[in-house]
Amino acid sequence: MDDRWWQRAVVYQIYPRSFMDTDGDGIGDLPGILARLDYLAWLGVDVLWLCPIYPSPNDDNGYDISDYCAIMAEFGTMADFDRLLAEAHRRGMRVILDLVINHTSDEHPWFRESRNSRDNPKRDWYIWRDGRDGRPPNNWESIFRGPAWDYDATTEQWYLHLFTRRQPDLDWENAAMRAAIHAMMRWWLDKGVDGFRIDAITHIRKAPGLPDMPNPQGLAQVAAYPYHMNVAGILDYIDELARETLAGRDAMTVGEANGIGPDDAEEWVGTTRRRLSMILQFEHWHLWSDHPQAARDVLALKRILGRWQRALHGRGWNALYLENHDLPRVVSRWGDPQRHPRESATALATMYFLMEGTPFIYQGQELGLANAEFANLDEFRDRFAHNRIAEMRASGLSEDAILDEMRRTGRDTARGPMPWDDGPQGGFTTGTPWLAAHQDYRSANVARQQADPDSVLQHYRALIALRRREPVLIHGRYTALAARSTRIYAYTRGEGDERIAVVCNLSSRPATFRHTGFALAAEGLLLVNRPVALHGPRHALRLAPWEARVYRVAAE
Ligand code: GLC
Repeated sequence: MDDRWWQRAVVYQIYPRSFMDTDGDGIGDLPGILARLDYLAWLGVDVLWLCPIYPSPNDDNGYDISDYCAIMAEFGTMADFDRLLAEAHRRGMRVILDLVINHTSDEHPWFRESRNSRDNPKRDWYIWRDGRDGRPPNNWESIFRGPAWDYDATTEQWYLHLFTRRQPDLDWENAAMRAAIHAMMRWWLDKGVDGFRIDAITHIRKAPGLPDMPNPQGLAQVAAYPYHMNVAGILDYIDELARETLAGRDAMTVGEANGIGPDDAEEWVGTTRRRLSMILQFEHWHLWSDHPQAARDVLALKRILGRWQRALHGRGWNALYLENHDLPRVVSRWGDPQRHPRESATALATMYFLMEGTPFIYQGQELGLANAEFANLDEFRDRFAHNRIAEMRASGLSEDAILDEMRRTGRDTARGPMPWDDGPQGGFTTGTPWLAAHQDYRSANVARQQADPDSVLQHYRALIALRRREPVLIHGRYTALAARSTRIYAYTRGEGDERIAVVCNLSSRPATFRHTGFALAAEGLLLVNRPVALHGPRHALRLAPWEARVYRVAAE
């Protein structure tokens, strides 16, 4: 069987700006991460994914890189990075970097040169085109709203940017540009980093001729971009990248893969070609983001995640996640933060964590944090938020309606300081944090939850330990149970006598789980998220709101 270190791993995603500040400027830094490595080791995670740590004007919080081979001054120095890497390795943890190669910052020297003149050698490292009668070269919309083109008066042409106007897209058709990216990746790998999370990777190829989109406005809403997402030929770039940078190394690669469905996934992460170790798919996320008003749809969630489980079993590998720095907190999206904050956080955790794949935890998720609260629109820092606010204002929405929307969907809702203790600013900084401390930091913080055996944090720690103890949780087959229940998410992993059952009530009402063909007995209980009340009849479990149980299955 295919058995790789990253299949047994649990990944912890760090948003360095908000993890831990050691110099009092209100911005997290690398020495801060170093100072908290023992916490991460205690939690039991194996891989740290660092969101971008490179120099950047921070138009998109570091996803606009101005130098690929250096460290953002606010975060520290290369010596700090080397120390962090060595200390993580000493504790048996690996470090992967965020690799943003669809675009750079407009302050990257490559782009500065590129914009200088039409015959600059770097001109074709980016995508420049003539306008159409004073208008952009085509009708593409930026994923972050507004036209995807900006006019540059110096050379009287337009450049493409799928994200902010300060994130010009690199032109992947240019072989010299690709070679420079490959060299940069080798440089980091030679330094000892253990792999990459590759940002926006499905967007690097654009359809030849850059044709107009059929319906750009509508497409932006549903994130279907036929001419710049998963465009035919993109896999050639991935093959070349793998050959030039990863061959002969045991690195982990995680592609951020909007637009890839379970049927295409094998091409990206299939064991035979293994272009990437795994991808972060967007389907379960779209379930919510396309219908944010809709109640949590457990049936649809099971359908989507179940398809991914089946499609890649024995053929590839899944990345499992509920949160990241682009999404609101899962408890606020799918849980019940008012009435059942702890139970809903732990039930959701149990539901996704024991599937087949590598689980990811985004900082603060392990505390069950709800969305940070924003009192007014000025408090949002994210450029994408600003663009959306402007767009909603232009469409005539009231300020209250906009605030309501942003409080539910804005990316800043999950980007605030990590709460470490109940001291000022949750122990994150001695200064003024760049985003306000979380409103719940006095009750939801690391110190308090470490001391509380029933905390969300302890539940995550127990899930990690369980996954490590039970080999069937790594490669065992996923079989859906209770497929028609609108409240219960249940499945088994493994076969026959070697089976573990995961049963979660994802609702605020009691629910009954019925099963046949195997027995769930009190002595088989491996993990619960609340005291088990009673064991009921043989083939029915009565579950309290947001109750989650994990059993070793007994054959009948
Ligand atoms: C990815 C990142 C997001 C960033 C965007 C542009 O989606 O996760 O934070 O804004 O790419 O780089």
